[in-house]
Amino acid sequence: MKSQYVDELKAGQSVKEIFVLGKKIVKDKKDGGVYAILEFSDRTGTIDGISWDGDSLGEVTAGDFVFVTGNVTEYSGRLQVVVNSMSQVEDGEVDATDFLPTYLGDINSVMKALQEFRTSVRDKNLRQLLDSFFDDNEFMILFRLAPAAKRVHHAYLGGLAVHTLSVLRLLRSMQSVYEFLNADLLITAGILHDVGKIEEYTYKKSINISDRGRLLGHIVIGSEMVAERLRQIPDFPKDLRLKILHMILSHHGEKEWGSPKQPLFPEALVLHYADNLDSKIEMMRQIYSRHRGQNKQWSDYHPFLEREIYLGEES
Ligand SMILES: [Fe+2]
Ligand SMILES: [Fe+2]
Repeated sequence: MKSQYVDELKAGQSVKEIFVLGKKIVKDKKDGGVYAILEFSDRTGTIDGISWDGDSLGEVTAGDFVFVTGNVTEYSGRLQVVVNSMSQVEDGEVDATDFLPTYLGDINSVMKALQEFRTSVRDKNLRQLLDSFFDDNEFMILFRLAPAAKRVHHAYLGGLAVHTLSVLRLLRSMQSVYEFLNADLLITAGILHDVGKIEEYTYKKSINISDRGRLLGHIVIGSEMVAERLRQIPDFPKDLRLKILHMILSHHGEKEWGSPKQPLFPEALVLHYADNLDSKIEMMRQIYSRHRGQNKQWSDYHPFLEREIYLGEES
């Protein structure tokens, strides 16, 4: 356990702690020598840093765990660490959960609830598809660990599983209203809709978008992963195969939101709305928790929701 976390640092405090070095930009000083603009993070947040003696920083590079000594000061209304010394720490010497935001609830019960959804699927073919993922230990370890985003919603370890479970619960209740919907198809596509996220992000030291994620995105990666498993199931019905792949490709609803296709049948439309609702509710929930105690009436403009959110009177 660390003893100093980013969100507890205050101006005037001295720092002696391990962080992830997020950024290191070395610049020339006007009077010779170099200084370095830095960024440090742990699971609670990110703080700027500066070293006036850039030469002394040696070999450390962005992405390393670093032991930092220095002092916290305030500069242009932002806290920063003025670094005295910084040295690299081996990956094996740190507890990774100190450095990445992690789901605070019980991830085991989330996984158990997902398993119950899986076993509720009666269709033999769809069940085989789900089993090929759930019986793959390597996949399940990543699925349990993956975040659902870098920043926007469920941006913490376990976020993918938590988001997937909420989408499934929404799908189940929507299906109870629109009973003609194929429940097995909805649940299967609901479980698999974001599996591409296990490869879209890197989540060892900090949550970032992988090269594959940047170049392809989770919708394409996910449809490839599912297509690959489908190829291994003999005689999987062609129509069902197309429907599952379409639901993954269309779940963002619109081309400008990253889906190459709009939803073209009812189950696909319902999956899109469930996904969209859960991600937006989670964004609003985050805005509320971030502003707690600040006595503000309105949030700042939210670039993804494209609006300011009414916070109202605090009760
Ligand atoms: Fe998605
Ligand atoms: Fe999603």
